[in-house]
Amino acid sequence: MSEENTTNKNENERIVNPEVAEDDYQNSSLRPQNLEEFIGQRQIRGNLRVFIDAAKGRQEAMDHVLLHGPPGLGKTTLAQIVARELGVNFRMTSGPTITKAGDLSALLTNLSPKDVLFIDEIHRLNPSIEEVLYPAMEDFQLDLMIGEGPAARSLRIDLPPFTLIAATTRSGLITTPLRDRFGIPMRLQFYAEDELEEIIKRAADKLSFNITTDGANEIARRSRGTPRVAGRLLRRVRDFEGVLFSEVIDAKAADAALGRLEVDNLGLDAMDKRYLNCIARNYSGGPVGVDTLAAALSEQRDVIEEVIEPYLLQQGFIDRTPRGRVLSPNAYDYLGLKLKKKQAQLEMLSNDERDIYQSIRSDAYDE
Ligand SMILES: Nc1ncnc2c1ncn2[C@@H]1O[C@H](COP(=O)(O)OP(=O)(O)OP(=O)(O)O)[C@@H](O)[C@H]1O
Ligand SMILES: [Mg+2]
Repeated sequence: MSEENTTNKNENERIVNPEVAEDDYQNSSLRPQNLEEFIGQRQIRGNLRVFIDAAKGRQEAMDHVLLHGPPGLGKTTLAQIVARELGVNFRMTSGPTITKAGDLSALLTNLSPKDVLFIDEIHRLNPSIEEVLYPAMEDFQLDLMIGEGPAARSLRIDLPPFTLIAATTRSGLITTPLRDRFGIPMRLQFYAEDELEEIIKRAADKLSFNITTDGANEIARRSRGTPRVAGRLLRRVRDFEGVLFSEVIDAKAADAALGRLEVDNLGLDAMDKRYLNCIARNYSGGPVGVDTLAAALSEQRDVIEEVIEPYLLQQGFIDRTPRGRVLSPNAYDYLGLKLKKKQAQLEMLSNDERDIYQSIRSDAYDE
């Protein structure tokens, strides 16, 4: 096995990258097929059950759903499950692939009544195409322009009632008129450790190999709250297991394999450490703007905001403030560095004072 230098890996090669990678597709059989098989996101699941049953009871199309949350948490999976549970067709497209209004019109007019149309990455939909969606979503009508120049006329046609399910990792980028047309907005959360453990055990079952509860927990803890990462780590551990370890994956085997893959016991890898170290060492713990960080790390701003930061935020390692990113005391502990003076002073404030200070700093960035 060759030694890899993970420090220079780009985002696509990161094993803990929550975005979809090529070999993730080979395992589509692992996708849960119905709401009962879907683990976690209890509230969303409960609500969807009610909406699905109600729509079926009334024999109507279900209301439009907007799913938002970080990559790899199960948005596409949930959309497919909804269509299956409703017993209707599932048509899938994505914001950037719809380049002309005509593309969207063709999709919409080809739907059968009550079908689910899934638009992934809806925040990347062209604004002029977005306008075609408004009357379609609201009144199931489509305004078509026929001909060009003075001879052009508009034609209004009726569409079959349908359910639009849209997914986005960036709900902040969706325009208000579009967002308001979704009757059911849902935000997916990172998964708890025990939920990921369950997901890993079921996946191991389906791939027919043995994993102990401790082994599953070891992988769960390092999965960044993300099922896609959990599935990928499980497969890598299995690859190692085949070569190096016994038949059963226990905590020790999982730990050894993940150690070799440079994923530490919080699920942070070399990229996260580079990010944290960069703020700590080059910018004295922040605040530092995201564009500056992107340049310093040679990463795209999107990758930093959508892929690297959500988990670090959730772990309390960083704060997004109006003036930029700031490391938290936790991050200093994690990096084994001493707090800078500024943070040390913050630590000396009373709890109330600190709350006020923190709320002023982080106000502007919440979605
Ligand atoms: N609750 C769950 N239980 C079991 N497996 C899950 C669950 N949620 C997601 N997965 C698995 O995680 C992987 C990623 O899920 P999915 O593709 O639905 O994520 P996504 O939110 O659409 O990501 P993206 O934003 O990148 O499109 C899939 O392989 C899926 O099988
Ligand atoms: Mg998806």
